[in-house]
Amino acid sequence: MDNRPIGVFDSGLGGLTAFKALSKLLPNEDIVYFGDTGRVPYGTRSRETIVKYARQDMAFLQSKDVKMILAACGTVSSVAGSKGELLSDTLNVPFVGVLRPTAREAATATRNGKIGVLGTTATVRSGSYQKELAAINPDLQVFGQDCPLFVPLVESGFVQPGDPITRLTVERYLAPMKEADVDTLILGCTHYPIIAPVISEVMGKDVVLINSGREAARFCVALLAEMELLTEKTAPGERHFYVSDRTEGFSSVAGIFLGQDVQGEVSHIDIDKY
Ligand code: DGL
Repeated sequence: MDNRPIGVFDSGLGGLTAFKALSKLLPNEDIVYFGDTGRVPYGTRSRETIVKYARQDMAFLQSKDVKMILAACGTVSSVAGSKGELLSDTLNVPFVGVLRPTAREAATATRNGKIGVLGTTATVRSGSYQKELAAINPDLQVFGQDCPLFVPLVESGFVQPGDPITRLTVERYLAPMKEADVDTLILGCTHYPIIAPVISEVMGKDVVLINSGREAARFCVALLAEMELLTEKTAPGERHFYVSDRTEGFSSVAGIFLGQDVQGEVSHIDIDKY
């Protein structure tokens, strides 16, 4: 048993899709969330910059004495590698990324062996899902597509299913996926589940969408249980949000991700100190 909080981070708000799933699965756990809103997006940056930022994010979470770190960011997880090997060397707590649990779920879900991966440019460029899926089943065909406009659209609140700009952007990015006849589509960036209804409408109802934030949250729960690190508290857990930019900006858009007003304190931190 371990009553310390779970640490979750992302470049911005996308990781809240994982946070939401985690909060629902483990209502009594304390959770510390860090969104690097001052430096989002990560997905257009170099591998070196992403590693540097992720190390600072994790150093901050460790300063909050967390018992596990969930990188709720497809970009960081892809750069970190399957078991987080590139990042976990500085950690003294378990590290979970979205890559492995998401790839496993996609490999189970596909019926025709054709899997699409939507992600940031850094995620798609890394080939992380291709490697992970090939290790599970070398016969799988994997098609990657980066969607750099999705993150700004989501962070700016263009998320209503009827929004014509989002719809057009989704149609443009997904055309090669339809062409490739994928039956399973990985939402490899944790921002994308917010526009899943539009993606599903464009792809058709037979295509299974895999929500990387939710899969990572489920994996975290299983790992905490296996390592006997679940809390013994029985009261609702405390939530604390930290951001590297304005707290007001965070609270208004975070509500879209959480489907409700932010419950818990929101504080600003200077991430350059870590
Ligand atoms: N939410 C992050 C991801 O999952 C990325 C957004 C970004 O910073 O580019 O990849």
